[in-house]
Amino acid sequence: MKCNQIIVALDVANFEDAVKLVQLLPDVTFWKVGLELFIAAGPEILSYLKRENKSIFLDLKLNDIPNTMAGACRSALKYEVDLITLHVSSGRAALEASLKSIKQSAKPPKLLGVTVLTSLSSQDLSISQDISDYVLSLALLAKEVGLAGSICSPLELNKLRHSCGQDFLLICPGIRPSWSDAGDQKRTLTPSDALARGANYLVIGRPITGAVDPVSAWSKLVEELEYNL
Ligand code: C5P
Repeated sequence: MKCNQIIVALDVANFEDAVKLVQLLPDVTFWKVGLELFIAAGPEILSYLKRENKSIFLDLKLNDIPNTMAGACRSALKYEVDLITLHVSSGRAALEASLKSIKQSAKPPKLLGVTVLTSLSSQDLSISQDISDYVLSLALLAKEVGLAGSICSPLELNKLRHSCGQDFLLICPGIRPSWSDAGDQKRTLTPSDALARGANYLVIGRPITGAVDPVSAWSKLVEELEYNL
């Protein structure tokens, strides 16, 4: 069973809808709180998930000057979240300051570097460089600085695993079961293929939370994983 490697994105507009989903899907052990919900519901949602004994991925994709990034990470400590995202493009000094700010904590969250959003292509960024080379250079910077891992598209897993080593966490959004719509995600893979290529965790949102019946979408996903792995 690979269920604990699935992080479900709690991308809803308010606290009440978030609680409904968490209660509807009791077998989901790891939830991701992103900008939409955090701005709407505030840190209360983190306290709620903690009380429910869930693991928490705080995905605010921090990107600011070193002092502000460090302060944000330090402020997050009191919610005892498990994972926090920072944009690698915020630069070496900001990443180092963030790491330093949580060093004294007894149970610090793992800091993960966002490389290139999985909704983007080279054209969107107006770059001639192959996007996977750009992703790799950002992931290597994250590793060099000492971040625990990186967020990447499942299509970049082979390349990143090869260059960043086995201990570097690779967490993939842009996951689409064969029965779901791609939506705005452009660089996608199915859950079982992404795990087979070495992803440590998968982030899945709309295929479950946007399904007409989230409970059966979750069961279908779990069945698919059990069958294929
Ligand atoms: O609904 P969907 O499965 O596309 O959700 C993907 C989630 O992963 C969203 O919450 C999105 O913010 C997040 N994400 C992403 N690409 C990244 C980092 C995070 O899609 N590079």
